[in-house]
Amino acid sequence: MDKRIALVGPGEKQLEQQLRGRGFTVLAWAERELRAQHPSAVADLVIIDVRDQPHLPASLEAFRTQHPAVPVLLLVSALEPALMLQAMRVGVKECLQHPVADEELDAALARIAASRESGLTGDVFAFLGAKGGVGTTTAAVSVATEFVHLRKGSVLLIDLHLAYGDAAVYLGAEPRFSVADALENTHRLDAAYLKGLCVKTKAGPDLLASPDRGLAVVVDAGRIRTLIDAVARYYRYVVLDICRTDPAVLDSLDPVKKILVVANQELPTVRGASRMAATLNQRYGKDRVMLAVSRYDPNSGIGQEDIERVVGSKIRHLLPSDYRVALEALNTGRPLTMSNQTRLAGALKVLAHELADIDTPVPSAVGGRSIFGRLTGRS
Ligand SMILES: Nc1ncnc2c1ncn2[C@@H]1O[C@H](COP(=O)(O)OP(=O)(O)OP(=O)(O)O)[C@@H](O)[C@H]1O
Ligand SMILES: [Mg+2]
Repeated sequence: MDKRIALVGPGEKQLEQQLRGRGFTVLAWAERELRAQHPSAVADLVIIDVRDQPHLPASLEAFRTQHPAVPVLLLVSALEPALMLQAMRVGVKECLQHPVADEELDAALARIAASRESGLTGDVFAFLGAKGGVGTTTAAVSVATEFVHLRKGSVLLIDLHLAYGDAAVYLGAEPRFSVADALENTHRLDAAYLKGLCVKTKAGPDLLASPDRGLAVVVDAGRIRTLIDAVARYYRYVVLDICRTDPAVLDSLDPVKKILVVANQELPTVRGASRMAATLNQRYGKDRVMLAVSRYDPNSGIGQEDIERVVGSKIRHLLPSDYRVALEALNTGRPLTMSNQTRLAGALKVLAHELADIDTPVPSAVGGRSIFGRLTGRS
């Protein structure tokens, strides 16, 4: 069981005693200590006292990014929906209502210990095309491949197209099993079973492929969520290549750290991205939704600023258009980031670095001439 618990806030004697009585060392932290960078300063578990506060501490999100493996609990005076939503978005594990009953404290600590034992630490990223063919799978497999090279630790790509997904082709893999097997057997998703379903690719990431058969069960968001939670216990990074037309998949992304909406410079795609981003922002919070433009051409009639104005968010990544290079990567089953030679590979690496929280200079985006009226459909 974890030993050091940091109690952030004004101090709460009863909870302190309850924790000490269970053998914990209680550290009294001021909020600024959430910003401490040194690992020895980090507790095994953090409880933040937010009673009488309408918002979570500003430093909490940075702390979660810096120390994703340290579970965070909140001590609240009431289970306020707005605060609960904020808490869920930054990955708070549990909310304890003051005064905390012994049984509630024990149950919360047991749940945290259970998720610890299963090693729940993986970061999950979802890649979602605003329209078909924009380059989503190209980006997803490239980023997953770069993750393997960036950090030690395992990487899994799940092709969450429940029919006709093609990530296996992009990774030069011949999978025997698929997402269908995983979703039909959510009751037995332990390490050994998952390992049997995933194929190790030559590029580096493991792959859980799209099925080439129908599913024997009705797939709802709960099943997909169970699968995502299960794989995040065994992989450091999980990349999901998801399908915009599957509501169950779109409704199962709570464990996902970032959702990358991939658009291009075509009018219907930009409009689609706008609608998609609005829905995702509302469901998962603006901070978790990122916009990228693939097949980017600086001379296109639809420029960067036009897209940003229509979608209502900044473009975080521009992936240059390079059909020859993209096609060669696809046809050889060697993701683009396996080569260093092209601007497109460079941009995909920068994207992977940002998602993995590794600093690299981001290339400056290029503007274009405005056709805002056409994009919005307003004159
Ligand atoms: N940056 C790029 N520049 C030029 N061509 C690209 C780029 N990225 C991908 N392509 C090409 O576009 C085509 C579609 O790419 P990809 O399969 O990645 O798109 P997708 O959005 O996943 O499509 P689908 O909707 O079918 O899943 C492929 O031929 C690919 O090689
Ligand atoms: Mg695809």
